[in-house]
Amino acid sequence: MFNLILFGPPGSGKGTQSDKLVEKYGLIHLSTGNLLRKEIADKTPLGLEAKSFIDKGQLVPDEVVIGMVDSYFDLHKGAPGFLFDGYPRTVAQAAALDNLLELKKTEIELVLFLQVDEDELIKRLVHRGKTSGRSDDTDEQVQRKRQEVYRKETLPVAAFYTRQNKVVNIEGVGTVNEIFESLCEVIDKKRK
Ligand code: AP5
Repeated sequence: MFNLILFGPPGSGKGTQSDKLVEKYGLIHLSTGNLLRKEIADKTPLGLEAKSFIDKGQLVPDEVVIGMVDSYFDLHKGAPGFLFDGYPRTVAQAAALDNLLELKKTEIELVLFLQVDEDELIKRLVHRGKTSGRSDDTDEQVQRKRQEVYRKETLPVAAFYTRQNKVVNIEGVGTVNEIFESLCEVIDKKRK
């Protein structure tokens, strides 16, 4: 199995690049944001709980997200590998993922960290909010809150994987194709 994490702040291009990477490498895309939005659209109890956090720009509680990821992983037995997008987002989630992968006798090979400055992030998200229909996209206050939560709760995840020597920084400003090529270069080197 080849498992990688696409890491970066809200708006850094994780979703955009994930679509291209899963197509090229045949990985299973595991986006906790997409899974949560599906739960919300289906009006499940999990979705209703998650919505109250997402709308405020806060993280959904760890136990909810970790359980959801474990179930999704088990739905894809025999997968060639996973691309984790927006997960893990706390050190507790990272530790839970390490445990899960160890149980399955596999591990994270690479953490690709998209580097984009905050002004560019807000610009992208406000622009996306005009058409995305995402409840957490329209209000600039919520955008700023998401960036603040990222700095406080999610950035320590990069340090967690740096200690494992797995993080590679990638310039996240440029055209979508330029960034995709940089990502592929690092992945191809690792898969050799
Ligand atoms: P989630 O759906 O994961 O959102 P996010 O991390 O905030 O990321 P975004 O989807 O906003 O951005 P992205 O990095 O994917 O960028 P994108 O490619 O879309 O999470 C949403 C919420 O769910 C969280 O706030 C939280 O409440 C909850 N949640 C999710 N996972 C959780 C977890 N593990 N634990 C707890 N809670 C969780 O690009 C952004 C925009 O920029 C797009 O319009 C795109 O077209 C544009 N763009 C992309 N690349 C470029 C480029 N190179 N140049 C210019 N524009 C670009």
